[in-house]
Amino acid sequence: MSHDSWGDSLERQEALHVDAEQRHDHGHHKAQELQDRTQHLEGAEGALVRVDDAIAGYLPGVNILNGCDLYAQEGELVGIIGPNGAGKSTLLKSLFGLVRIRSGAVTLRGEEITNMRADQLVKRGIGFVPQTNNVFPSLTIEENLQMGAYQAPGNFDERFDFITTLFPTLGDRRKQRAGSLSGGERQMVAMGRALMMNPSVLLLDEPSAGLSPVLTDEVFVRVREINKTGVTVIMVEQNARRCLQICDRGYVLDQGRNAYTGTGRALATDPKVIQLYLGTLAKA
Ligand SMILES: Nc1ncnc2c1ncn2[C@@H]1O[C@H](COP(=O)(O)OP(=O)(O)OP(=O)(O)O)[C@@H](O)[C@H]1O
Ligand SMILES: [Mg+2]
Repeated sequence: MSHDSWGDSLERQEALHVDAEQRHDHGHHKAQELQDRTQHLEGAEGALVRVDDAIAGYLPGVNILNGCDLYAQEGELVGIIGPNGAGKSTLLKSLFGLVRIRSGAVTLRGEEITNMRADQLVKRGIGFVPQTNNVFPSLTIEENLQMGAYQAPGNFDERFDFITTLFPTLGDRRKQRAGSLSGGERQMVAMGRALMMNPSVLLLDEPSAGLSPVLTDEVFVRVREINKTGVTVIMVEQNARRCLQICDRGYVLDQGRNAYTGTGRALATDPKVIQLYLGTLAKA
């Protein structure tokens, strides 16, 4: 996402610092963490997918995730918001086996899948749409969708029908190169590709990045539709307010940790979340 939407003004830094102190220091530290953890453990019971206390990073000795918890129950639409560099993409990538988890666990339907290879995870029903470079620009729409089905080419026709019913434009333009599509259409191709394997969980990293407000709305409507077909969705979003409006539950991630968690509505109306992540300070 662009660096002008989440700033790092002194005022915001100060407010974040005070907030972190209130949450973690003054003796609340352990109690608050224990409460967050208990809430997570209760909510995550029987979850389709869950991440427990994940520590992960790219460079030796540098942790980007500092103990993240996340879960999605079957059929949920879960949103993840937070400032630039908070570790949102890292969290999705570590869930999808693209960033090594140093400690903690990822579980799918009760089976541990920590650090499993992405192609194995695709076979097990996880789909991932990365934040950038998520289509093959020189290939046509149809060829992009074929790439999504390379592990099960026999299902191509059936999945192609499903996806072009969801996104009729993709069917109408099947011979057009993905590189010549609009940003919104490209996102549909990227989501369509991930849906070719009929995933039970779809991970979306900023599907509205770079899109106009109108196209953003359209993408969100599509995400909702995908979710309504029974696909559990975990979506990272820069459009924090809109994301909280459409998701069942949300997570605010900050500095590789869970800062706030709750229903979309509870987060969107929480004064601290508004002040730090949705309001003027977030945009400063
Ligand atoms: N491939 C990489 N190698 C080393 N460090 C990385 C790499 N990718 C990300 N990082 C670092 O990890 C931290 C978290 O990055 P991440 O991309 O997860 O943030 P994000 O919350 O998705 O931010 P944004 O909202 O800007 O997309 C950042 O400090 C970033 O510089
Ligand atoms: Mg990111």
